[in-house]
Amino acid sequence: MIKGAVDWVDARLPVVNAFKKHMSEYYAPKNFNFWYYFGVLSLVVLVNQLLTGIWLTMFYSPSDAFASVEYIMRDVQFGWLIRYMHAVGASAFFAVVYLHMFRGLLYGSYKPPRELVWIFGMMIYLALMAEGFLGYVLPWGNMSYWGAQVIISLAEAIPFQVLPFVDGTEAAAMGEALTTWVRGDYLLSEATVNKFFALHVVAIPLVLVALVVLHILALHEVGSNNPDGVEIKKNKDENGIPKDGIPFHPYYTVKDLVGVVVFLMVFAVVLFFFPDGGGYFIERPNFTPANPLATPDHIAPVWYYGPYYAMLRATTFSFLFDAKTWGMIIMGGAIAILFVVPWLDRHPVKSIRYKGMLSKVTLMLFALFFLVLGFLGTQPANNSFLGISFTGWAQIGTFYYFIFFLVILPFGHRFEKSKPVPDRVTGGH
Ligand code: HEM
Repeated sequence: MIKGAVDWVDARLPVVNAFKKHMSEYYAPKNFNFWYYFGVLSLVVLVNQLLTGIWLTMFYSPSDAFASVEYIMRDVQFGWLIRYMHAVGASAFFAVVYLHMFRGLLYGSYKPPRELVWIFGMMIYLALMAEGFLGYVLPWGNMSYWGAQVIISLAEAIPFQVLPFVDGTEAAAMGEALTTWVRGDYLLSEATVNKFFALHVVAIPLVLVALVVLHILALHEVGSNNPDGVEIKKNKDENGIPKDGIPFHPYYTVKDLVGVVVFLMVFAVVLFFFPDGGGYFIERPNFTPANPLATPDHIAPVWYYGPYYAMLRATTFSFLFDAKTWGMIIMGGAIAILFVVPWLDRHPVKSIRYKGMLSKVTLMLFALFFLVLGFLGTQPANNSFLGISFTGWAQIGTFYYFIFFLVILPFGHRFEKSKPVPDRVTGGH
């Protein structure tokens, strides 16, 4: 009966073919390692966010935002669990996506022919940043309010004027006009929460899901890279199957299950014992309602925006534009530069395994500085370490970030000796 039903559907919609193409006859390199778990883990967290998000939407009300979240936490059955799964899930999403992106840097996964996979990835990353920001505003705690205040008012740094009215009376700054438009009011208000709610629960998730589908379709068109950076399609057997490939299903579906189970264990520990992540996932001021009259001592973004926020604050000079505008340019540039990584990296070797010492050390330093910037972004700027102010450290980190992408990736290979890349993948028997 089941076979009959499958055949009936298959004659009308080729599901069996699709399963073969993307699962049982999708040949993935046999040497995937630890770093290859984070793609599927991103999918797991995405599903978690969508499901818990739908449940939260059943009880949340943007016109009574803070109180409705308290109602979810106290009165809705298992509301606390759903809410914390969603809040911890947001941090988990960024953690696994950052590790997933770092894998790309380790093994040159963005290099031809996978540039488009990376570009879709970057679009996902942007959508994710927007989604996280919008979501953080929804509980309308005091950090939601002040965080949104800081981020939305960034638009005020746009240094242009909108055209004056015909009678010449008003020439508003473009940034100011934009800020009012985004807020939907002259101050942050219920109107803002309403529109953020619409964007957070419908618009951005639709975009995210569509981008993830495109990301995976683009990947399956060209096939996966692997820790050796060897193209398995160059070595096929008489049936046209890559000699170093194994069917994704059942081999990787089973292997990925191990990763998923381990991840869920870690997730559960955080969820049940540290749901606010020690103030890093849900900041302390967000347990009190939004209050325009009480600015938190220190307005800081959630950890995953830390590196960019640190870069935004690192600019202290003004030349042509003021420091805030430069901060925006540098922060925007830091994200934009990631889109063109496939073209900046001119190293003849893909995988870090066969690159020289310079590539290895500079990549490690990059990871270190990214973490340091992330930390600095969450801290007050007036501290210091080793006699250098936190702002000074953020400037050093920002400088290195750009040097890495603009100098080391394009030219680093000229100053090192790479090892020979094997013809076939190593390991994974
Ligand atoms: C919701 C977020 C994302 C999901 C669900 C997702 C999912 C996946 C999956 C399932 C794979 C195949 C398995 C693997 O190679 O790990 C993959 C591969 C890949 N992803 Fe993502 N991804 C996401 C975000 C990103 C981002 C932000 C980037 C980079 C900007 C990115 C870049 C890549 C690259 C380059 C590959 C190919 C890796 C290789 O073959 O070595 N992805 N992604």
